[in-house]
Amino acid sequence: MRFSTLATGLAALSGVHAAAISEQGQLVKRASLTQVQNFGDNPSGIKMFIYVPSNLQPNPPVVLVLHACAWTAGSFFGTTKYSQFADQHGFVLIYGQTPTDGACWDVSSDQTLKHDGGGDSKGLSSMVKYALQQYNGDASKVFVTGESSGAMMTQVMAAVYPDLFAAGSEFSGEPAGCFATGTVRGWNSQCAGGQLHHTAEEWASIVHNMYPGYTGAYPRMQIFHGDVDQTLNIASFNESIKEWSGVFGYSGTAEQTIDNNPGAKLTKYIYGDRLQGIWGHGFGHVVPTNETEALTWFGLI
Ligand SMILES: *[C@@H]1O[C@H](CO)[C@@H](O)[C@H](O)[C@H]1NC(C)=O
Ligand SMILES: *[C@@H]1O[C@H](CO)[C@@H](O)[C@H](O)[C@H]1NC(C)=O
Repeated sequence: MRFSTLATGLAALSGVHAAAISEQGQLVKRASLTQVQNFGDNPSGIKMFIYVPSNLQPNPPVVLVLHACAWTAGSFFGTTKYSQFADQHGFVLIYGQTPTDGACWDVSSDQTLKHDGGGDSKGLSSMVKYALQQYNGDASKVFVTGESSGAMMTQVMAAVYPDLFAAGSEFSGEPAGCFATGTVRGWNSQCAGGQLHHTAEEWASIVHNMYPGYTGAYPRMQIFHGDVDQTLNIASFNESIKEWSGVFGYSGTAEQTIDNNPGAKLTKYIYGDRLQGIWGHGFGHVVPTNETEALTWFGLI
């Protein structure tokens, strides 16, 4: 099974224009999602959309948001509430988009899985650098989040460009490197089917080999997964936890377990300051984005 089930009747919106009524009852034009054409090195031809709120902070944080397969930047922008938070808190939002409408992110090729190796990950890193430069952004407050294919890409970006991101929050993805096939936008059925297992040490060395020689910190990571996911097997949760436990040197055993957190039918496992997993009871593919929880994890709200 692929991600097409996620497409459920969502029309792609190209350039979403939002308006709001002020307290005086006047129509106030809000910022809109706009495409940026030339944002730097972009070997796979992915597309950049940006949302810059009118009350931008002087050194704004930057949040990169990544859609699922069968979605677009515009459709995901329209169904997520991040722009409302950006309006309130003055940070910049980037919505990335795959080269052809509805395509999955490339989380499988040798290029994308290598620091400065090319592919979609390179283009996404260029978007982040462009936004930091253009808006005098705070390079210590750059974050990445996404659903499904965008969740896989969240883990890939954290592993391949750990120097760029302070934290990631992903909703129903796979560990970085799990989908590797050597082909662009490949489908790794062994990974998706939950048959690919590694120890924490093996996963950590897979991550380190994506950026050899890097000795800095890796982004804090928050992993959501549903316990009846039929698209990306539930083993993905444990494999992702093992991967980041290996990277952070954690035991992989939760230090703290909190039921009904952040919401009903969710259990939060805290493995250390830099890693938490949220297990969705009765959730299939996907556990829906919780903007409040992701932005709290990022320290932005
Ligand atoms: C995940 O790991 C936990 C703790 O080690 C274990 O109890 C559970 O059965 C594992 N889940 C899956 C789906 O393998
Ligand atoms: C989302 O997270 C917030 C806390 O960050 C929580 O209050 C809320 O209940 C969560 N929503 C759902 C649907 O789980």
